[in-house]
Amino acid sequence: MARHGKVSVIGSGFYGTTTAQRLAAYDIFDTVVLTDILEGKPEGVALDINQSRSIEGYQTKVIGATTTPDGEGYEAIADSDIVIITAGLPRKPGMSRMDLLEVNAGIVGGVAKNIAKHAPNAVILVVSNPLDEMTALTQKASGFPKERVIGQAGVLDTARFTNFVAEATGADVANVKTLTLGSHGETMVPVPSVSTVNGKPLTEVLSAEVIADLVEKTRNGGAEIVALLKTGSAYYAPSAAVARMAKAVHEDSGAVFPVCAWVDGEFGISGVYLGVEAQLGKGGIKKIVETPLDEVELENLKVAAEAVRSKQADIANL
Ligand code: LAC
Repeated sequence: MARHGKVSVIGSGFYGTTTAQRLAAYDIFDTVVLTDILEGKPEGVALDINQSRSIEGYQTKVIGATTTPDGEGYEAIADSDIVIITAGLPRKPGMSRMDLLEVNAGIVGGVAKNIAKHAPNAVILVVSNPLDEMTALTQKASGFPKERVIGQAGVLDTARFTNFVAEATGADVANVKTLTLGSHGETMVPVPSVSTVNGKPLTEVLSAEVIADLVEKTRNGGAEIVALLKTGSAYYAPSAAVARMAKAVHEDSGAVFPVCAWVDGEFGISGVYLGVEAQLGKGGIKKIVETPLDEVELENLKVAAEAVRSKQADIANL
């Protein structure tokens, strides 16, 4: 399909800039817009990425635009098909994602309103933390239909689980399939029952004890990186995750990803943004997939739903 359409990335930190670069390199969009409130940063990064195009062999043009919190400069994102929100602070060592709730709610709420004004038909992909809460907040602040506001977490958490399983078994990472659902936090729900290594059930390849360790490592996957980096949080795997989601929406592929989506009746859970598998395409979520779960996994998913439901309710009071 010919190159077309416009995707905007709000926030030019490491997450935003690596996402913009990946999206440009796909060479499927006409334009990638990158914004930030830090004057000159998005314009500078855009120049840099554009100057790599003749070496890497892609045409997509990146446009940088400085914005203000009260909405100046947002004309640059006008009529975007997809907008990715990376704005907000990352964690510092020792912080949980939830420690960012108040400060990021202010930032992300403002961004969502500006998106609604300038790109009213966009699909919004949210990556700011705490993820499940920021996704719910973005939907509320934008007023967008729920299927057009999606959070990125499951693709990243699943990729981390896959990497850990590949390392523990020595299998090629391409031959490991895993899945995580639930929240992007304490109540993340890795799903060993549908996970496989070289086509064999994970539960036959590794002991329950080793699987439990890898599950724990996956839950702490982000914090482990924050502790090592000392400033900022992960961005290579996170940007790969959200860029793939944007590609699926753009190409209307119908591919299934674990994402943070509005759940209303599936799994016996209603009225909450939660990590589940869903089909992505034009218009956002095409369909929530009811992954077959064992009893414990389903129970864990319900626990996660209640945990994020109470936090998402708190957002209404911020
Ligand atoms: C992480 C952050 C981006 O999990 O949430 O690395």
